[in-house]
Amino acid sequence: MTGMEAKNEGDIQSTSPVSFGSNGPELEDKTKKPYRELLALSRVSAAVSGLWDLDGVLDVALDTVLEIMNGTIGGILLIDEQTQTLSYRVHRGLSDKYAEEMRLSIGEGIAGRVAQSGKAVLLEDISADPRAAWRDLISTEGLKAFISVPLRAKDAVLGVLNVASHSPHHFTQDDMHLLHTIGDQVGVAIEEAELYDQLRKERENYRQLARYMLIAQEAERGRVARELHDETSQSLTGLSLNMEALLSIANTSDFGDAAFKSKLEKAYNISLQLNSEINKIMKSLRPTALDSLGLSPAIRQIAENRLQSLGINVSVKHEGMEERFPSEVEFGLYRIAQGSIANIALHSQAKNALVILRCNSDELTMQIEDDGKGFDASRPIEVDESGRGRGLFSMKERASLLGGTCDIRSQPGKGTKIMVKVPVYWSKPNEKDRSADS
Ligand SMILES: Nc1ncnc2c1ncn2[C@@H]1O[C@H](COP(=O)(O)OP(=O)(O)O)[C@@H](O)[C@H]1O
Ligand SMILES: [Mg+2]
Repeated sequence: MTGMEAKNEGDIQSTSPVSFGSNGPELEDKTKKPYRELLALSRVSAAVSGLWDLDGVLDVALDTVLEIMNGTIGGILLIDEQTQTLSYRVHRGLSDKYAEEMRLSIGEGIAGRVAQSGKAVLLEDISADPRAAWRDLISTEGLKAFISVPLRAKDAVLGVLNVASHSPHHFTQDDMHLLHTIGDQVGVAIEEAELYDQLRKERENYRQLARYMLIAQEAERGRVARELHDETSQSLTGLSLNMEALLSIANTSDFGDAAFKSKLEKAYNISLQLNSEINKIMKSLRPTALDSLGLSPAIRQIAENRLQSLGINVSVKHEGMEERFPSEVEFGLYRIAQGSIANIALHSQAKNALVILRCNSDELTMQIEDDGKGFDASRPIEVDESGRGRGLFSMKERASLLGGTCDIRSQPGKGTKIMVKVPVYWSKPNEKDRSADS
């Protein structure tokens, strides 16, 4: 049987210059081929463009190739990098048994040779070709005429595209050359899909890691807050009590002069002040209101504490379910609210602020708005050297790590509105989750 191999890309006939004005059959032949090739390439390119998942690319590429070839039998085999074997990823007109059993090492059989050499092969009858592997499978399947072309990206072969027919002598050399060209295009699409897939996986890993770090950060903050409470704050309370006793002894027993008493009183006041500062730090590290009361009351507490003293009217509303939510969701929304409220306090010069939490069983939304001076939120967020922008950036990042969105709307003179939407997954019950934190 005859087997023809395209030696290299140069083997594919190039388009000849066309002289207009002649209608001879020769010209028709000369123009038909490049047209067919261009048409085929643009069809494959249109079909696979915008597809980013590998299986989608392979399915569409194979269907388009079979349509162009007017054929019904074909398949795409990809190389497994680890085992260095080829196996079918998609196929049409072949039995599942054939596609499952046809596994070839690089260099084995027809497709294996094509993968090894990077050169296309045209066979008049594969069932009678001594180079073919799995000949019994091939004859059971009734395959005769056969074209096998490499799928290349840059210089690497990623797989092989086969088309076949039940009758011998079915394909021409032009068909092989056309498929060879299409193969290069499909190879690039496969490489892009694989890169995209890799990028998607890496992004997913990063998200998992960042999510884990946020949970770990909250747990660590909780641990430090507890330590401050159990050790530092307790000792300071003891110190204050002792100083208070000393002061009262000094005042009642005429012990020490006025300067001594004044110094003692000063030291006592410092110990009280230290205790109140430590309390503030403990609260910001681990918002106890969030643990004990839940999201809305905790947000109400920070909003009122932070904004009312600045003369900003603030109202916090809760609509829907009053359930507790998974702790990463509650902490995420709490920290976003904390950042937004700090921004209202620091930058807005607003008169009024409004926080609305809407909770249902599968989604939590939070809207935080003010009627202050606003800013241009249409510009992409940039974190500058002073850290400005980090607040808004981390709000978006927190929402996205929870699988949600954070939309920041603001214009100069028109106030600011932050809309956060987060899906709720109930796989982790809140209580269990909470105790795992501690
Ligand atoms: N509610 C708001 N009203 C007016 N301007 C705001 C508001 N929120 C944010 N901004 C503007 O956006 C900038 C970035 O905010 P952010 O990322 O939180 O950083 P920072 O608060 O550290 O400046 C602020 O410096 C401010 O100019
Ligand atoms: Mg800020």
